[in-house]
Amino acid sequence: MKSHEVASALALLVGVVAGQKSAYEQCGGIGYSGATNCVSGYTCTSWNPYYYQCYPGTSTPAPSTTSTTTRVTTTPTSTTKATSSSTTKPSTTKVTSSTTSKSSSSTKTSTTSVPSSAAFAKTNGLLFNIDGVTKYWPGTNCYWCGFLTSNGDVDAVFADMAAAGLKIVRVWGFNDVNTLPSSSSTTVWYQYLSASGSQINTGTNGLQRLDYVVSSAQAHGLKLIINFVNNWSDYGGMNAYVNAFGGSTLTWYTNTAAQSQYRAYIKAVVSRYSTSTAVFAWELANEPRCSGCDTSVIYNWAASTSQYIKSLDSNHMVTLGDEGFGPLTGGDGSYPYQTSAGGYVWQDNLNITTLDFATFHLYPDSWGQPYDWGNLWVSTHGAACAAANKPCLFEEYGGNNNCTIENPWQKTALSTKGIAADLFWQFGDTLPSCNCQTSQDGNTVFYKQGNWDCMVTDHVAAINSAYP
Ligand SMILES: *[C@@H]1O[C@H](CO)[C@@H](O)[C@H](O)[C@H]1NC(C)=O
Ligand SMILES: *[C@@H]1O[C@H](CO)[C@@H](O)[C@H](O)[C@H]1NC(C)=O
Ligand SMILES: *[C@@H]1O[C@H](CO)[C@@H](O)[C@H](O)[C@H]1NC(C)=O
Repeated sequence: MKSHEVASALALLVGVVAGQKSAYEQCGGIGYSGATNCVSGYTCTSWNPYYYQCYPGTSTPAPSTTSTTTRVTTTPTSTTKATSSSTTKPSTTKVTSSTTSKSSSSTKTSTTSVPSSAAFAKTNGLLFNIDGVTKYWPGTNCYWCGFLTSNGDVDAVFADMAAAGLKIVRVWGFNDVNTLPSSSSTTVWYQYLSASGSQINTGTNGLQRLDYVVSSAQAHGLKLIINFVNNWSDYGGMNAYVNAFGGSTLTWYTNTAAQSQYRAYIKAVVSRYSTSTAVFAWELANEPRCSGCDTSVIYNWAASTSQYIKSLDSNHMVTLGDEGFGPLTGGDGSYPYQTSAGGYVWQDNLNITTLDFATFHLYPDSWGQPYDWGNLWVSTHGAACAAANKPCLFEEYGGNNNCTIENPWQKTALSTKGIAADLFWQFGDTLPSCNCQTSQDGNTVFYKQGNWDCMVTDHVAAINSAYP
């Protein structure tokens, strides 16, 4: 919190000068009275009569259409270059200030909270609108991105993702511990959980690592899904709350002490990036389950937590992060289509108005299903999302990094109304700081290696040709 306030003060000092508007700032619209010309490489672009924005490129796209600026995604390097000059390799303390300065400086020229709502990712019917473009989007998972200790590694990973045409990147926004690391430890942790006093680590081995991820995503034109807790015990998770506050992972959802600290943590993270356009959405949990619970437990927790997040931040979307279990029209009644699998009914949760879109995952071999069953799983979720008029994010999928298995799921997702984006599990890369490879869990697709082309390059090309 403290660094955030300092950052805002700095922003006020640097924000006032320009007669030209910088990247993504407002440059026109009804009620606007600031400068209307943009810095080199950007054009003042009309999204609607109320909002003109400095957008990459030199020609002006037609106003208020959603498809004419699609080229931005196919040339991510132009976005990268344009915005990275001020944010390349900042120290971790400057990260927040550069992120915040954009918004605060824009505040001067607009009456609404800034950046204008047009600059934030949002739903548009059954698709997502990102930077003014509505289409189907490709993405990936990088749970470890916020745990990297080298800024150069984060930049290298995001540069590769952007060069590949990926857009939405899901990262863990949690890293919970029950033992307080020594003050000299460089191990990354975000939150220490204890009944006798929890701590949120805003230091250089704490949320400043996530700050850098947000800053680098901004520089590379990527959009982040940031998740607040794990169902599983990796990086702490609900079990770390249970260790601190008692109960069980099943009562975690209703345990007052656990929920109060969970909300304190959410508030700490959301307030750091509530004005960042690099955030795609906040996510309640990774794969929450409550086996054997009444389905109202997860429903009520998801409804109240998402309401809470909206009360803190009305700029960003909120989603659940669940696997998509429960009975579904058109399903075959197999285990994943049963209420027992997750202790919730995915379809019921679609009516929670403070959840902007729905998520589902796909791991047939973990669930005892044949691989081609995945197409039914994708299409039934899409149909339910279409019926609920809410986009579905196909958020994780893995079939042993085998294109024969996974390409059909990708094709089904792209052609199913109601599915708005897919994020393969998981991205892999070689980190420059150690010349070493990132986590290989059997489903990792390493950048430009192995099955990279048939899993990623071809799919991105198919998406771009379906949404030119
Ligand atoms: C995650 O979900 C499973 C399935 O309901 C449950 O058994 C487990 O206790 C949960 N939490 C953890 C920490 O594994
Ligand atoms: C949403 O779904 C739940 C669970 O099926 C149901 O109890 C509730 O009445 C629904 N609410 C609305 C507003 O449709
Ligand atoms: C990929 O999956 C297909 C279908 O299950 C299988 O026939 C093939 O052997 C797999 N390829 C590899 C390299 O494992």
